[in-house]
Order: sequence, then structure tokens, then C-alpha cells
Amino acid sequence: MKTNVLQDTQRILNLIAKRDLDDDEKKQLIDETVENFNSYINPGFLKYRKSFSSDYVAVEWADNGSTFTCVKGIEYIDCLGGYGIYNVGHRHPKVLKAVTDQLQRQALHSQELLDPLRGYLAKILAELTPGNLKYAFFTNSGTESVEGALKMAMLATGRRTIVAAVGGFHGKSLGALSGTSKAVFRKAFIPSLLNMRHIPFNDLNALEQTLSCLQFTGDDAAAVLLEPILGEGGIIVPNDDYFPGVRRLCDKYGVLLIADEVQTGMGRTGKMFCIEHWDVEPDIICLGKAFGGGIMPAGAFIGSEKLWAPIFNNPFLHTTTFGGNPLACAAAIATINVLLEERLCERAKTMGDLFLNKLKLTIKPYTPHIVIDARGKGLMLALEFADTDIGFRVSKGLFREKILVAGTLVNAKTIRIEPPLTITLEQINNVINALNKVLKEIASEMKPQLTNELINKIIPLNIFQHTVLSRQL
Ligand SMILES: Cc1ncc(COP(=O)(O)O)c(C=O)c1O
Repeated sequence: MKTNVLQDTQRILNLIAKRDLDDDEKKQLIDETVENFNSYINPGFLKYRKSFSSDYVAVEWADNGSTFTCVKGIEYIDCLGGYGIYNVGHRHPKVLKAVTDQLQRQALHSQELLDPLRGYLAKILAELTPGNLKYAFFTNSGTESVEGALKMAMLATGRRTIVAAVGGFHGKSLGALSGTSKAVFRKAFIPSLLNMRHIPFNDLNALEQTLSCLQFTGDDAAAVLLEPILGEGGIIVPNDDYFPGVRRLCDKYGVLLIADEVQTGMGRTGKMFCIEHWDVEPDIICLGKAFGGGIMPAGAFIGSEKLWAPIFNNPFLHTTTFGGNPLACAAAIATINVLLEERLCERAKTMGDLFLNKLKLTIKPYTPHIVIDARGKGLMLALEFADTDIGFRVSKGLFREKILVAGTLVNAKTIRIEPPLTITLEQINNVINALNKVLKEIASEMKPQLTNELINKIIPLNIFQHTVLSRQL
């Protein structure tokens, strides 16, 4: 041992037990965290974090409702939503109570006796999910849900090829990474990835051609793996006829449809599962992120009896030690209860429509020279900028205004807005005012680059003038 680990662990345990820190403790915590990230996690991270590259270093300390608070006590409106994990808000009291109640009695499961919460949660999911989906396998993350779904599809069909979308994101372990589409994440690992074909999203001709070519060559597809809305790919909402068409083609070629609802699920887009917007029944649904209520890491994949049949005789064909543990199941059961009781799917639609309208109004004077588009469904929203640099400047500017947003992983010039579904109107208005301020600053900084005529149009003073200006444009 190089240092006194016993003393260190005790000091950190004391810190965890504290609710408030004095000024010296705050400074020490911030300095040590930066040093630890630099020396023991990955110095590369710091360069990407707005919370580090801004005027002051923000180290997080607490969260509640729709906000995060840093060690210095500054509160941020969370429009990043942990990349989609805080659908019911931060530390929702009901989820917190379920997890702490369970924790007081038993934390993890024996792995041999039957654990009741896993059974209850599986039954609830059979009720909640569309169509014949009935059997559930519980995981610790979205990536693991996709991994398991791919294996189930191969087992059930006896086929090996998977079709996924360009712009799709499904995780970064070897199997899930096969479905993920961006070269920078995949290149170093080819050819150890699965047999994949990536096709353009929202293009039924491309899908039909691919499935028919695969059939012709004997590489028949086992499954089509798709996010209902491309999340990391830039919040791309497909046409309304796309998923019904995908279902029809999957049936025609005997291919399974896997809906990766890791980010779109649990009410985010205004329905419990996004694919329900188009009345489509997938063969497998993958869940993660918000499934654990923003308190526990938890995921699942759910499929029909026909699909599960190959593992009835050997349930050990696919296993995990921690997946479906009692704490995670307690969190997921409470999360579903809160989503239904507080009607958060409906709220996601109402607040999402309102937020999107306000975003569209706000960006109009800056379109297309600074902002290209505001789009999304429910509270899965995005702003796309003219270039990556502007996207970064806007997110940094919003961070200064105490609003947390982030880029999308495969499309850096698009920033996502995925707040808790509990976000209030007042908080939405704060975000809009901050965005207005930041865009105005960027527009005036870019003044020399723009024509005088344009500049006259892109310095709005208030939200009402937006409407007037937008009519003039
Ligand atoms: C659609 C989708 N699938 C899978 C994953 C992987 O989930 P996780 O990072 O929890 O393993 C993500 C993560 O962003 C995702 O957005």
C-alpha cells in the first residue's frame, strides 16, 4: 500500500455522512476531485466538461427534483437529465423510500432462493408492455439489455445477422457496439464485432433491399435493432409510417424487431414506450436509464413466450449476478408507480409540446445562420446548430446561466434537452430566457461574420418581438 488507505477511507466516509461543508472543506473537496480525475480517472475527461472548462469548477454534491447542486451551493436546472435517467425527477421520494425500505431489510439476493420483487416486476412489465411481450430478463444497464436482446434473437431464429441504423447508438460493449454506428467508437474493434449491416434510418426502401439481399445470400437477418427515435444520433424522429413499415418488412422476412427503448422508454416521449406512438408491437423491448428511477442502475429486456422458449430448458444460458437485484427492482416498481400515478407520460407530452414551441420561437431569428432546428417528441428535445463550435458555445453559455445540457454522442452540433418529466413551467421559462440571452451574445460576437441586413434581424429584445420578427423573416 502506497498511502494510508485506512485513514483515507475513514475521512471519505465522514464526508459522505455530512450534509453541509465549511469553506475549507469545500475547497479541499473541489481540489482533490480535480486532482483525482486528472491522475486516476482520465485527464482527457476534464477538457470535455463544461463544469471544468468554465470560469469556475463545479463539483456535484446533491440533487433534488429537476436540479443538481454543486459543492459551492449553486443550483443547476437539469436539462441533460443524466442522458435520460431522471424521468421521475431526482431522488423522487417514493423511489427513494422503496429503495431505502428494501435496503433496511435486504440489499442483494441470495442467487438461489426465489426473490419476490423480480417476479412482481416481471409481471408488471408483462402488463405494461405492448402485445405479447411477457418474459423479462433484468440487467444493470442499457448496454446489457441490448446484449441480451441480441443473444435472444440469435437463439430464437438460429440466424446471425443483425440490421441496425446509421446514427444508432446501443452501447459500447462488443455486442452492443456492433449495433452502435459511429466509426470512432467501432473501428479499433472490427472484426471482432457481430455480423451487422447498418442502413439509413427512416428509409423503408433501404430496409427492404437489405433484408432481401441478406435472404438471397443466405445471411438472413435475425433481427432489426432500432431506437424508435435516434437519441445519441441527434434526436431524429422518424416519419409516422416508418415503424409500421419496419414491422411489416420484419414479418415478411421472418426477422425480429428489437426496440431499443433505453433512452426513449419510461414515458420520455409522451407514451410509456415510444414505439406505442405508432401502434407497433416489437418482439423485444430493451430498457435501461430511467427504468431505475434515477436512483438505481437497472435495465431489462422483455420478449414473448416464443422468444424465451429456447432458454426454458437452460435458464443459465444467459445470466448476471447483480441484474434484477431487490434494490433495483424496488426502484423500478416505484418508478412505474410514479409514472402512472403522476401521469408523467401525459405530462411529457404537454410540457414537451409547450417547451418545443417556445424553443422554436426563440431560435427563429437565429435560423439558419446560428441555429438550424429545434425538434423532438415529448420531453426528448434537441437544438441543432450551424456548427459544432456554436453548439459548444451555447451549452457553455447555458451552463454559466445555471442550466445543464449536453451534446449527443454521435452528432456534436446537436444538443439535447431531456429534463425530468416533472420540470415546471417556471423552470422551462428560465431555460428559454437563458437560451435567448446566450444566442443574443453569440449573434453579436459573430457580428463581423454576418451581413448588416442579417444583424438587424437577429438582435431580438423580448419574446413578443420574436413573433413579429419571425413574421418578417
Ligand atoms: C438507445 C440506447 N441504447 C443503449 C444505451 C447504453 O446504455 P448504458 O450506457 O446505460 O449502458 C444508450 C446510452 O446512451 C442508449 O441511448
